[in-house]
Amino acid sequence: MSLPFNIAIDGHSSCGKSTIAKAVASKYGMRYIDTGAMYRAVTLYCMRNNVIKNKEVDLVKLNAELDNIAINFVFNAETKQSETVLNGENVEKIIRGFEVSDNVSIVAQIQQVREKLIASQQEIGREGNVVMDGRDIGTKVFPDAKLKLFVTASAKIRAQRRYDELKKKGEKVTFEDVLSNLTLRDDHDTNREINPLLQAKDAILIDNSQFSIQKQNALIDDLITTKLGE
Ligand code: DC
Repeated sequence: MSLPFNIAIDGHSSCGKSTIAKAVASKYGMRYIDTGAMYRAVTLYCMRNNVIKNKEVDLVKLNAELDNIAINFVFNAETKQSETVLNGENVEKIIRGFEVSDNVSIVAQIQQVREKLIASQQEIGREGNVVMDGRDIGTKVFPDAKLKLFVTASAKIRAQRRYDELKKKGEKVTFEDVLSNLTLRDDHDTNREINPLLQAKDAILIDNSQFSIQKQNALIDDLITTKLGE
Protein backbone atom coordinates (compact mmCIF):
# COMPACT_ATOMS: atom_id res chain seq x y z
CA MET A 1 0.00 0.00 0.00
CA SER A 2 1.09 3.59 -0.44
CA LEU A 3 -0.60 6.83 0.56
CA PRO A 4 -1.47 9.59 -1.92
CA PHE A 5 -0.40 12.26 0.57
CA ASN A 6 2.42 13.26 2.91
CA ILE A 7 2.25 13.12 6.70
CA ALA A 8 3.97 15.85 8.72
CA ILE A 9 5.03 15.08 12.29
CA ASP A 10 6.42 17.86 14.44
CA GLY A 11 7.12 18.13 18.14
CA HIS A 12 9.61 18.53 20.94
CA SER A 13 12.94 16.66 21.19
CA SER A 14 12.69 13.00 22.20
CA CYS A 15 8.90 12.90 22.23
CA GLY A 16 8.70 9.77 20.10
CA LYS A 17 8.10 11.40 16.71
CA SER A 18 10.41 8.97 14.99
CA THR A 19 8.75 5.95 16.63
CA ILE A 20 5.42 7.10 15.20
CA ALA A 21 6.91 7.92 11.80
CA LYS A 22 8.68 4.56 11.49
CA ALA A 23 5.53 2.64 12.45
CA VAL A 24 3.44 4.57 9.91
CA ALA A 25 6.09 4.19 7.19
CA SER A 26 6.32 0.46 7.73
CA LYS A 27 2.55 -0.10 7.88
CA TYR A 28 1.63 2.01 4.84
CA GLY A 29 4.75 1.52 2.71
CA MET A 30 5.70 5.19 2.94
CA ARG A 31 9.18 6.69 2.79
CA TYR A 32 10.35 7.94 6.20
CA ILE A 33 12.57 11.00 6.43
CA ASP A 34 14.07 12.04 9.76
CA THR A 35 14.85 15.73 9.17
CA GLY A 36 16.56 16.01 12.58
CA ALA A 37 19.17 13.60 11.20
CA MET A 38 19.82 16.05 8.35
CA TYR A 39 20.46 18.93 10.80
CA ARG A 40 22.63 16.58 12.85
CA ALA A 41 24.69 15.59 9.79
CA VAL A 42 25.29 19.25 8.87
CA THR A 43 26.34 19.86 12.50
CA LEU A 44 28.82 16.99 12.38
CA TYR A 45 30.28 18.39 9.17
CA CYS A 46 30.61 21.83 10.82
CA MET A 47 32.31 20.33 13.89
CA ARG A 48 34.79 18.39 11.78
CA ASN A 49 35.62 21.33 9.54
CA ASN A 50 36.00 24.02 12.21
CA VAL A 51 32.86 25.81 11.07
CA ILE A 52 31.61 25.61 14.66
CA LYS A 53 34.00 26.00 17.57
CA ASN A 54 33.01 26.52 21.22
CA LYS A 55 29.40 26.91 20.10
CA GLU A 56 30.31 29.81 17.75
CA VAL A 57 29.55 29.41 14.05
CA ASP A 58 31.87 30.97 11.46
CA LEU A 59 29.25 32.11 8.94
CA VAL A 60 31.77 32.96 6.22
CA LYS A 61 33.22 29.48 6.40
CA LEU A 62 29.74 27.97 6.54
CA ASN A 63 28.71 29.74 3.34
CA ALA A 64 31.84 28.48 1.62
CA GLU A 65 31.21 24.90 2.80
CA LEU A 66 27.43 24.45 2.41
CA ASP A 67 27.60 23.20 -1.18
CA ASN A 68 30.14 20.56 -0.12
CA ILE A 69 27.63 18.88 2.18
CA ALA A 70 25.65 16.01 0.65
CA ILE A 71 23.21 14.09 2.81
CA ASN A 72 21.52 10.85 1.79
CA PHE A 73 19.77 7.95 3.45
CA VAL A 74 20.49 4.23 2.98
CA PHE A 75 18.32 1.36 4.10
CA ASN A 76 20.04 -1.11 6.42
CA ALA A 77 18.43 -4.46 5.57
CA GLU A 78 19.66 -6.04 8.81
CA THR A 79 18.20 -3.48 11.22
CA LYS A 80 15.43 -2.49 8.77
CA GLN A 81 16.22 1.15 9.53
CA SER A 82 17.12 4.05 7.31
CA GLU A 83 20.60 5.40 8.09
CA THR A 84 22.14 8.79 7.43
CA VAL A 85 25.02 9.20 5.00
CA LEU A 86 27.18 12.32 4.95
CA ASN A 87 29.35 12.72 1.86
CA GLY A 88 29.46 8.95 1.36
CA GLU A 89 30.14 8.07 5.02
CA ASN A 90 27.53 6.34 7.15
CA VAL A 91 27.27 8.67 10.16
CA GLU A 92 24.12 7.25 11.74
CA LYS A 93 25.77 6.36 15.02
CA ILE A 94 27.94 9.42 15.55
CA ILE A 95 25.17 11.96 14.84
CA ARG A 96 23.13 10.52 17.72
CA GLY A 97 25.96 11.09 20.21
CA PHE A 98 25.97 13.71 22.91
CA GLU A 99 28.47 16.06 21.23
CA VAL A 100 26.38 16.50 18.11
CA SER A 101 23.22 16.83 20.25
CA ASP A 102 24.93 19.57 22.18
CA ASN A 103 25.66 21.66 19.06
CA VAL A 104 22.81 20.87 16.69
CA SER A 105 20.26 23.46 17.80
CA ILE A 106 22.83 26.20 17.19
CA VAL A 107 23.42 25.04 13.61
CA ALA A 108 19.68 24.51 13.06
CA GLN A 109 19.04 28.20 13.79
CA ILE A 110 21.02 29.36 10.76
CA GLN A 111 18.95 30.55 7.82
CA GLN A 112 21.26 29.24 5.07
CA VAL A 113 21.26 25.79 6.63
CA ARG A 114 17.47 25.74 6.90
CA GLU A 115 16.98 26.95 3.31
CA LYS A 116 19.25 24.22 1.95
CA LEU A 117 17.64 21.43 3.96
CA ILE A 118 14.03 22.56 3.45
CA ALA A 119 14.55 22.70 -0.34
CA SER A 120 15.83 19.15 -0.35
CA GLN A 121 13.02 17.95 1.96
CA GLN A 122 10.40 19.49 -0.34
CA GLU A 123 12.00 17.78 -3.33
CA ILE A 124 11.84 14.40 -1.54
CA GLY A 125 8.13 14.93 -0.78
CA ARG A 126 7.13 16.12 -4.25
CA GLU A 127 5.40 12.86 -5.21
CA GLY A 128 3.67 12.22 -1.84
CA ASN A 129 3.79 9.00 0.21
CA VAL A 130 6.39 10.49 2.56
CA VAL A 131 6.18 10.66 6.33
CA MET A 132 8.58 13.29 7.62
CA ASP A 133 9.35 14.31 11.19
CA GLY A 134 10.98 17.45 12.53
CA ARG A 135 10.08 20.86 13.90
CA ASP A 136 8.75 22.81 10.91
CA ILE A 137 7.32 20.12 8.65
CA GLY A 138 3.66 21.10 9.05
CA THR A 139 4.39 24.83 9.03
CA LYS A 140 7.16 25.25 6.41
CA VAL A 141 8.16 22.08 4.59
CA PHE A 142 4.71 20.65 3.78
CA PRO A 143 2.20 23.35 4.75
CA ASP A 144 -0.38 21.46 2.63
CA ALA A 145 0.18 18.03 4.16
CA LYS A 146 -3.15 16.25 4.52
CA LEU A 147 -2.30 14.91 7.97
CA LYS A 148 -0.25 16.89 10.49
CA LEU A 149 0.59 15.71 13.98
CA PHE A 150 2.14 17.73 16.78
CA VAL A 151 3.62 15.40 19.37
CA THR A 152 4.75 16.22 22.87
CA ALA A 153 5.27 14.81 26.38
CA SER A 154 6.52 16.29 29.65
CA ALA A 155 10.23 17.28 29.66
CA LYS A 156 11.05 14.82 32.46
CA ILE A 157 9.47 11.89 30.67
CA ARG A 158 11.23 12.78 27.42
CA ALA A 159 14.59 13.16 29.20
CA GLN A 160 14.16 9.78 30.89
CA ARG A 161 13.43 8.08 27.55
CA ARG A 162 16.50 9.72 25.96
CA TYR A 163 18.70 8.90 28.97
CA ASP A 164 17.68 5.22 28.80
CA GLU A 165 18.48 5.18 25.07
CA LEU A 166 21.94 6.78 25.54
CA LYS A 167 22.78 4.44 28.43
CA LYS A 168 21.89 1.44 26.27
CA LYS A 169 24.37 2.73 23.70
CA GLY A 170 27.04 2.97 26.42
CA GLU A 171 27.25 6.79 26.54
CA LYS A 172 28.54 8.20 29.83
CA VAL A 173 25.96 10.86 30.68
CA THR A 174 23.91 11.76 33.70
CA PHE A 175 20.15 12.20 33.73
CA GLU A 176 20.68 15.87 34.72
CA ASP A 177 22.90 16.46 31.66
CA VAL A 178 20.29 14.94 29.39
CA LEU A 179 17.45 16.94 30.95
CA SER A 180 19.37 20.21 30.73
CA ASN A 181 20.41 19.54 27.10
CA LEU A 182 16.80 18.74 26.22
CA THR A 183 15.41 21.83 27.96
CA LEU A 184 17.99 24.00 26.21
CA ARG A 185 17.10 22.46 22.83
CA ASP A 186 13.38 23.01 23.48
CA ASP A 187 14.18 26.61 24.28
CA HIS A 188 16.29 27.12 21.13
CA ASP A 189 13.77 25.28 18.91
CA THR A 190 10.79 27.22 20.25
CA ASN A 191 12.31 30.68 20.51
CA ARG A 192 14.54 30.93 17.46
CA GLU A 193 13.63 33.61 14.95
CA ILE A 194 13.62 31.45 11.85
CA ASN A 195 11.05 28.66 11.55
CA PRO A 196 10.55 28.07 15.29
CA LEU A 197 8.83 24.94 16.52
CA LEU A 198 5.13 25.72 16.28
CA GLN A 199 2.00 23.66 16.17
CA ALA A 200 0.42 24.26 12.75
CA LYS A 201 -3.18 25.47 13.02
CA ASP A 202 -4.49 22.29 11.43
CA ALA A 203 -2.18 19.88 13.31
CA ILE A 204 -3.58 17.34 15.76
CA LEU A 205 -1.97 17.49 19.20
CA ILE A 206 -0.79 14.20 20.71
CA ASP A 207 0.58 14.33 24.27
CA ASN A 208 1.96 10.85 24.81
CA SER A 209 3.18 11.34 28.41
CA GLN A 210 0.71 8.71 29.54
CA PHE A 211 0.16 6.79 26.28
CA SER A 212 1.31 3.30 25.42
CA ILE A 213 2.82 2.91 21.96
CA GLN A 214 -0.09 0.62 21.03
CA LYS A 215 -2.69 3.20 22.00
CA GLN A 216 -0.79 5.87 20.08
CA ASN A 217 -0.51 3.69 16.95
CA ALA A 218 -4.22 2.88 17.08
CA LEU A 219 -5.10 6.56 17.34
CA ILE A 220 -2.91 7.42 14.36
CA ASP A 221 -4.31 4.54 12.28
CA ASP A 222 -7.78 5.97 12.87
CA LEU A 223 -6.62 9.41 11.76
CA ILE A 224 -5.09 8.00 8.56
CA THR A 225 -8.21 5.98 7.78
CA THR A 226 -10.33 9.12 8.20
CA LYS A 227 -8.02 11.12 5.90
CA LEU A 228 -8.09 8.37 3.27
CA GLY A 229 -11.88 8.52 3.26
CA GLU A 230 -12.09 12.31 2.77
O1 DC B 1 14.74 15.58 16.12
P1 DC B 1 16.19 15.77 16.56
O2 DC B 1 16.35 15.92 18.04
O3 DC B 1 17.09 14.73 15.98
O4 DC B 1 16.62 17.17 15.91
C1 DC B 1 17.91 17.66 16.08
C2 DC B 1 17.88 19.19 16.12
O5 DC B 1 17.54 19.70 14.83
C3 DC B 1 16.92 19.83 17.12
O6 DC B 1 17.63 20.73 17.95
C4 DC B 1 15.95 20.61 16.30
C5 DC B 1 16.54 20.69 14.93
N1 DC B 1 15.55 20.46 13.88
C6 DC B 1 14.99 21.56 13.30
O7 DC B 1 15.28 22.69 13.68
N2 DC B 1 14.10 21.40 12.29
C7 DC B 1 13.74 20.18 11.87
N3 DC B 1 12.86 20.06 10.86
C8 DC B 1 14.31 19.04 12.48
C9 DC B 1 15.20 19.22 13.51
